[in-house]
Amino acid sequence: MTNQLFKVKPFDQLIAESQSNSSGLKRALTATNLVTLGIGAIIGAGIFVLTGEVSANYAGPAIILSFIVAALACAAAGLCYAELTSMIPISGSAYTYAYATIGEFFAWIIGWVLIVEYLFAASTVSVGWSGYIVSLLGNMGIHLPTSLTTAPIVYNDLTNGFEMVKGGIINVPAIFIIFLVTVLLITGVKESARFNNIIVAIKLTVIIAFILAGVFFINSANWQPFIPENTGTFGHFGISGIFRGAAVIFFAYIGFDAVSTAALESKNPQRDLPIGILGSLLICTVLYILVGLVLTGIVPYTQLGVPDPIAVGVDAVPQLKWLSPLIKIGAVAGLSSVILVMLMGQPRIFFTMAKDGLLPPVFTKVHPRFKTPATSTIIVGVLAMCLAGFFPIGVLSKLVSLGTLLAFASVCLAILILRKKQPDAKRPFKTPFSPYVPIFGILCSIGVTLFLNLYAWIAMGAWLTIGLAVYFLYGKQHSKLNLEVAK
Ligand code: ALA
Repeated sequence: MTNQLFKVKPFDQLIAESQSNSSGLKRALTATNLVTLGIGAIIGAGIFVLTGEVSANYAGPAIILSFIVAALACAAAGLCYAELTSMIPISGSAYTYAYATIGEFFAWIIGWVLIVEYLFAASTVSVGWSGYIVSLLGNMGIHLPTSLTTAPIVYNDLTNGFEMVKGGIINVPAIFIIFLVTVLLITGVKESARFNNIIVAIKLTVIIAFILAGVFFINSANWQPFIPENTGTFGHFGISGIFRGAAVIFFAYIGFDAVSTAALESKNPQRDLPIGILGSLLICTVLYILVGLVLTGIVPYTQLGVPDPIAVGVDAVPQLKWLSPLIKIGAVAGLSSVILVMLMGQPRIFFTMAKDGLLPPVFTKVHPRFKTPATSTIIVGVLAMCLAGFFPIGVLSKLVSLGTLLAFASVCLAILILRKKQPDAKRPFKTPFSPYVPIFGILCSIGVTLFLNLYAWIAMGAWLTIGLAVYFLYGKQHSKLNLEVAK
């Protein structure tokens, strides 16, 4: 039994799977598509929504340092992803790497945790999308009733508690955007990538316009004090605030790893996947630091504790008011593409897990005409709609970060193991300074999780318990690897 749980998938088998064309998926994505997919997944609620919470409550102008701390953890993980994805270009991402190194049981846990990252992130971001759309429609004189735009319960970050929303029943706009994206994803990966390219162009233009226009209105007095004094509560300003801020703003970087789930649809995966992962991460890191500098420079950080901090920032400077509607449009576009890439990644991870027998075969079905994993895309879409429509999303976003950080740590660990077990395997991209970079990645990822709140850990415990039940009731019995062992 122990043997079965820790059986690793043979490396040669994985390489053969990555090279065969039997997946039925269409190899249509170029390096540029992969970079834009990465940017599509990265720039979203983090920068358009969470920057406000982090600067007003945790770090003040030192949010730039929070951005840098989170970026270091992501850079280490990104380098490790780049090596693994160039070695084993299969769409299972961290799940596949764990299967190749630590064993089936651990791989299952990582696969289960990845659901938290992709599926829950799509739902979380769709609620942010709903907020911006309601506000844009409100500007045009169209007012939707609260009962149709809010889930019945919300999570309040400041009080660390759950609250009933008066009149809240269901978040229809959040469900609507997930529905639209699901339909688009079913119709084709190329079509989805093309749509993503347009959206990414819009959001990059808006963010660059904000930086270029805002830089002329920076008042350096707003950066004083750069690190506001600790309020007496751990994580609220001071040095601990920078790290708490990093844990929250980490959400803004999530998504570059989703590029690896497009491995089977990439034209030249071994060369292009590392470009997609590292290129998108680098571009977004530079933009985030600049946005942080400009935003805290044009408006005192104390005014930023709002759901639309960048819009509030430009509204505070009369000469920048013209940017306000553009920022809202950029945010709506930005959040749409995050939902798109997350909802694209999840069915592909299910696809890989089902191919291994750990999930029912229905998840491996490819649509005969569109060549996309249509059935699992629909299942994922329906689950995401339920979460987005009714659940308290505030706590889900922390859960998303926790899940992602655990996956990052496992990816860094996989590098250490594979360098030992498969020293001669072909590595088109090599993580530099190994083992220091992977070890640094593990320490940073685990370190950041310690600054996430307790509810996220409790929710993760509950989620993993469900995952264990599914594994022992279904996955373990149907695992192709275990069936081979039993033969
Ligand atoms: N990085 C993504 C966002 O900020 C998840 O929305």
